[in-house]
Amino acid sequence: MKRLDQVLAADGVPAELELVINDVIVACKDIAFKLRQGELAGILGATEDENVQGETQKKLDVISNDLLKDILVANPYVRGIGSEEEDYTVAGHDAGKYLVTFDPLDGSSNIDVNLSVGTIFSVLEAQDDQSGDNQEVFLQNGRKQVAAGYVLYGPSALLVMTTGNGVNIFTLDTTVGEFIQTKSGVSIPEDTAEFAINMSNQRFWEPEMKQYIDDCLQGEEGPLGKRYNMRWVASMVAEVHRILMRGGIFMYPYDSRDPSKAGKLRLMYEGNPMSMIVEQAGGASSTGRMDIMDVAPQGIHDRVPVVLGSKNEVAKVVAYHNK
Ligand code: AHG
Ligand code: MN
Ligand code: MN
Repeated sequence: MKRLDQVLAADGVPAELELVINDVIVACKDIAFKLRQGELAGILGATEDENVQGETQKKLDVISNDLLKDILVANPYVRGIGSEEEDYTVAGHDAGKYLVTFDPLDGSSNIDVNLSVGTIFSVLEAQDDQSGDNQEVFLQNGRKQVAAGYVLYGPSALLVMTTGNGVNIFTLDTTVGEFIQTKSGVSIPEDTAEFAINMSNQRFWEPEMKQYIDDCLQGEEGPLGKRYNMRWVASMVAEVHRILMRGGIFMYPYDSRDPSKAGKLRLMYEGNPMSMIVEQAGGASSTGRMDIMDVAPQGIHDRVPVVLGSKNEVAKVVAYHNK
C-alpha cells in the first residue's frame, strides 16, 4: 500500500506540483476532521453572506475556502487561486508555476443533514508573466489541466485524483492522518442503465434533454430498450464517485429558470476537473454539444451544462442534441 507522495513520485509528477497537491490535501484533511466533529465543532448552518454566484454561503463553505486559500497562497509554487467562494482570483507568488481553482465545499445543502459533501480541485500551469490576481491567466480550457481531483467526505474520506496517468483512489487512514492508495487504474463501465438528474427542473429543460429522459422513463418498451434506475444525491462529488465505482450518467443541463446562465455548475471548479477524472477513467464528458474540456472559458465563474459518465450513454445524449 502506497502513500499519496509515493504514487505521485512513481508517476513522475514534478516535485513542485507534488508540493502544491500536498497543500490542497493538508487543507482537505482539516475539512474532513471538522466534518467528522460536526455540530461539536460549530461548523453547521449558514452565514449572512452570499457568494458571487448569489448563493447563501454556509459556514463550512467559508471555512473550507479559507483553509484552501490560506495554505495555497503561501505556497511559493502557486501563482494564484480561483475559488467558487471568492469574487476575484487571488495572487500567490509571481514566480509560482501553478494556478489552482477549487470548489471548497461541493454539495453544501447536504452539510446540515449530515450527508456526503466534497472538495473539487484543478491545477493549471500559469502561462505567462501575469500576476495571479489577473483572471486572464486562468482562462485556459480543461485540456490544459495538469492535475484534477476531489475529496469525498462520506463514510470514509476518499481522495480521487489524476495527473493525466489514470485515476487513483486513496482512503484517509485516520489513525495516521495519511491518504493511502486503495485503487488504481479506475475504469468506468462503458454502458449503464442508471441516470442522475434533478427531475424537478424538467419543465425548464431544452426539448432534447426532455426527450432523452422521457425515453429513459419508458424503460424496455421505449426506444432505448432498457429499464433505468435513478439516483440524485445533490452533491456532484458523490454522484461522480458512484459513476466511477459502478457506471452511470450524471446530468445538470441548461435550464431556463435563469436564461442568462449556461447551466448551474461552474466550468472551472466543477466541470473541468470532473471531466478530466471521468475521461481519465475511460468515461466521457460533454455539454450535450461539445466536450466540456474544449470549452474556452470567458470568465473565472463561467457556468456550463454537464453530461458525464459511462461513455456509450453520454454518446446517446449527445446524439439527441445533434438530431
Ligand atoms: P455547491 O454546493 O458547490 O454549490 O454545488 C452544488 C451542486 C452540485 O454538487 C449538485 O450536483 C447540484 O448543485 C445540486 O443542485 P440542486 O440543489 O439544484 O439539485
Ligand atoms: Mn459544487
Ligand atoms: Mn461549493
